[in-house]
Amino acid sequence: MTQKTLLRALAGETLPTPPIWMMRQAGRYLPEYRATRAQAGDFLSLCYNSELAAEVTLQPIRRYGFDAAILFADILLLPQALGADLWFETGEGPRLSTITTMAGVQALKPKDAIHEKLAPIYETVRILARALPKETALIGFAGAPWTVATYMIAGRGSKDQGAAHALKAADRATFTALIDVITEATIDYLSMQVQAGAEVVKLFDSWAGSLKGQDFTDFAVKPTARIIAALKAKHPGLPVIAFPREADAGYIGFAAATGADCVAIDNSVTPEWAAEHVQVSGCVQGNLAPHHMVSGGQDLIDATRRVVNAFRHGPHIFNLGHGITPDANPDNVQLMIDTVRAG
Ligand code: CP3
Repeated sequence: MTQKTLLRALAGETLPTPPIWMMRQAGRYLPEYRATRAQAGDFLSLCYNSELAAEVTLQPIRRYGFDAAILFADILLLPQALGADLWFETGEGPRLSTITTMAGVQALKPKDAIHEKLAPIYETVRILARALPKETALIGFAGAPWTVATYMIAGRGSKDQGAAHALKAADRATFTALIDVITEATIDYLSMQVQAGAEVVKLFDSWAGSLKGQDFTDFAVKPTARIIAALKAKHPGLPVIAFPREADAGYIGFAAATGADCVAIDNSVTPEWAAEHVQVSGCVQGNLAPHHMVSGGQDLIDATRRVVNAFRHGPHIFNLGHGITPDANPDNVQLMIDTVRAG
């Protein structure tokens, strides 16, 4: 029988205190992260340095005793392994070579060729599986195909994912071919993480909110369902968290439609709404607004209690609604944890 609280919540158990972890818990708000990143040179060098990537994964576990660790890597390493150029512009974010034609999709590497580049990531997972405290669960992850495709098509992040929507409208065959390539590669990438020791996997669909109606079904629900079905066939019982960020009404029924064991909820919906409409069908994760980690104080305490109370009658993993930001105060993270654990 498993004792890890994260796995118990994912199995549907309602716990007196929810397990806690935080998106981007290893990140720039921590001085020890900034020091290790400087030692590695830059962000991508850190991702591919297994020893240092494991070190930054462990830092928030040591400092705060979170109930789960998330592999330190990035959703854009998979496009890079498929052959896209990837770099980070300081202060701006990721840049990639763009793909907008069928020839571009066909020029991507076959999925069997991704593992050479991604081998250090699997090594990071192996180190973590050995090094983590026995009560801490290890989460692997990948981007969901739509979100990864938006970066591969535009070559960067964008507010409205306009380039990806334009390709979808103008050249559906190329767009769906790209989604299929990413979907199949993601299955193999996550399966390797699980073989290396990841106990849970999470799919980040950060831009799911811009898919509406049938597009949401076709490009958020279906690829996620395909990945989850393939992973569970290979790894029976593997728990999966899906994060269709800003899906709004799309959160309703998402677990049933995709086979996810848990739906992560962003902070654009209230916890009371999510408890009523999403938690009724299983475990939810979320959804404190990240800005509380900057401002702290009584507001943080009140908002944290509100999330805990709203979700206390069903399976819940406490988390933020999105990643913690670099300007957050590490003391506020401790205040949040103390508030959750005080009930
Ligand atoms: O959560 C964790 O601690 C695990 C590691 C992790 C990172 N990125 C590290 C990272 C995870 C799970 C991600 C996911 C990711 N990456 C997403 C989906 C989640 C989300 O935030 O919506 C996306 C869209 C990306 C792509 C990406 N990576 C962007 C847009 C950026 C730049 C924006 C930013 O925050 O700087 C990154 C960089 C990145 N990924 C950093 C970290 C810690 C900051 C890099 C640095 O140290 O300078």
